[in-house]
Amino acid sequence: MTRLDETPRIETHNATASAVELVGLSFAYPDGMPALRGIDLRVEPGEKVALLGPNGAGKSTLLLHLNGVFRGQGEVRIFAERLTEANLRLIRAKVGLLFSNPDDQLFSPTVLDDVAYGPLHMGLPREEVLERTRVALEQVGMQGFEDRVPHRLSLGQKKRVAIATVLSMGTPILALDEPSASLSPVARRELIDLLQSLPQTMLISTHDLALARDLLPRTVVLDEGRVVADGATADILEDADLLVAHGLEPLSAHRHQHEGAG
Ligand SMILES: Nc1ncnc2c1ncn2[C@@H]1O[C@H](COP(=O)(O)OP(=O)(O)O)[C@@H](O)[C@H]1O
Ligand SMILES: [Mg+2]
Repeated sequence: MTRLDETPRIETHNATASAVELVGLSFAYPDGMPALRGIDLRVEPGEKVALLGPNGAGKSTLLLHLNGVFRGQGEVRIFAERLTEANLRLIRAKVGLLFSNPDDQLFSPTVLDDVAYGPLHMGLPREEVLERTRVALEQVGMQGFEDRVPHRLSLGQKKRVAIATVLSMGTPILALDEPSASLSPVARRELIDLLQSLPQTMLISTHDLALARDLLPRTVVLDEGRVVADGATADILEDADLLVAHGLEPLSAHRHQHEGAG
């Protein structure tokens, strides 16, 4: 169906472009308060950025704009290419989006079908689709679950399959909404190790400040639809006043030491 023939158009004439650029991005849900209020944000290729903020800050809404699930006012540019209705497919081949709820991501009768769906619809040859699917399931530790029914898996297993559906796309940008939520401690650690090993540009919304500390050198704090801080994760996580002011609980020194040692 979709072919990637046009894709190089994005990369060839903008080798130095930001991976993601949001310009004055605003959005209100039809029935609610404004969820994003003029977000300006640039993420350079290879950067790994935590999106922190209290519930309702707008983190999920922001991530859902990166590949056009929602279309607000202002601009979304991916490798300098402005997101429009016409190039939605191009953009979706660049930005892999993990929904916070895996039930929003998984819709196929088997795990294999779900993880193969993206690469299949990118028009890749069957062998490559199967190879990508195999690698992605192995990366999330879900090999052997190919024939299982996604909706019957545990929440943590669904989460890992959902992550595999994003990884199998091979997009240069990963937009992950609470990837570690509902994972067991072991699965969480494996996810962090996996994400650490990946070269992709990442924007990750999380309540897991230790994940941000271990994986994401830059942090953007959102609150009430605005960017209220943007800087080195180490500095932001040390700023207890800032964290508390925006509904976040500082990592305790004890936990920091304890986890740092492991
Ligand atoms: N589907 C929706 N319909 C209406 N309002 C929504 C919907 N999803 C989120 N909101 C509202 O938009 C704001 C931002 O929400 P969200 O992006 O989910 O924040 P976060 O991910 O930071 O918790 C909140 O005020 C929330 O109540
Ligand atoms: Mg959210």
